[in-house]
Amino acid sequence: MDRDALRSNMTAVRRLLHGTGVSHRPHFKAHKCLEISRLQIEFGANGFCAATVGEAEVLAALDTSVLLTSIVFSDTNLGRVAELRATGCELTLVVDDAVTAQRMSSALTARGSAAEVLIDIDTGRGRSGCGSVDEARQPAQQVEQLPGLTLGGLQLYAGHLSHLRDPAARAREHADFRGLVTRHREALADLLPAAPIITGGSTGSLVLELRDPVLSEVQCGSCALMDVEYLHGRLDFTSGHRPPTGARIECGVPHCDPSINLFDVAHVVSGDVLVDVWAIDARGA
Ligand SMILES: Cc1ncc(COP(=O)(O)O)c(C=O)c1O
Repeated sequence: MDRDALRSNMTAVRRLLHGTGVSHRPHFKAHKCLEISRLQIEFGANGFCAATVGEAEVLAALDTSVLLTSIVFSDTNLGRVAELRATGCELTLVVDDAVTAQRMSSALTARGSAAEVLIDIDTGRGRSGCGSVDEARQPAQQVEQLPGLTLGGLQLYAGHLSHLRDPAARAREHADFRGLVTRHREALADLLPAAPIITGGSTGSLVLELRDPVLSEVQCGSCALMDVEYLHGRLDFTSGHRPPTGARIECGVPHCDPSINLFDVAHVVSGDVLVDVWAIDARGA
């Protein structure tokens, strides 16, 4: 890991966010490394996102707020989440249906704890989230009524925008996304708090998110290390140039999340000098 590049990426994000009123809640899954998270706090991060309960458990060491961006459903994971809340971790959860909300409420109250919950909205990716305003109303109403849950806002993660290469297409799709956010926020205003959390945003669409923002916070994660693309690598010798057997080849890693998860530690360099060794604390978590 190049420490100077890391700091320069963080400086760039801080500069972009400065004065916009939008806060940065970086996604921890991008690096899974508490040393980087500590740096991100230094550079203005306001809490973190976690993809798994395991990541949230690791992040609890930082005494910061954690948004679990994936929906938790199994008894085991709901039990772990309730336990984490009971130990004082400031944890926010997401739901996209009334049954999950009910299960969360039961798991939390059984351990005498409670949590803030956001309604997850599908932005067109088809990964998770309510597919319409009407669909979102059901879990939102349910959360309002259930013990142990407080409705905090909406999650609308539109990561597909980052993968549109053509800037005009990206801006067009982003305009649709803005419409989606505004529609949901307005239609659910009677249930949402006065200043709801409206969270989403990925590194490739950060600049668009900050123009007349509709999100209150961005979840950009790979901005710390910078993905090239979500591609796997391959050595291509078809040009005829072939390195000798045993040659050591340095590769630029195109997608940080799954690559970093292959290592126990990161060697941190400044130029050619090894300056630190950081644990990948949430490897496999
Ligand atoms: C829910 C969620 N939020 C935030 C991110 C971070 O996006 P990026 O690494 O493009 O900044 C991801 C990445 O996949 C994600 O799934």
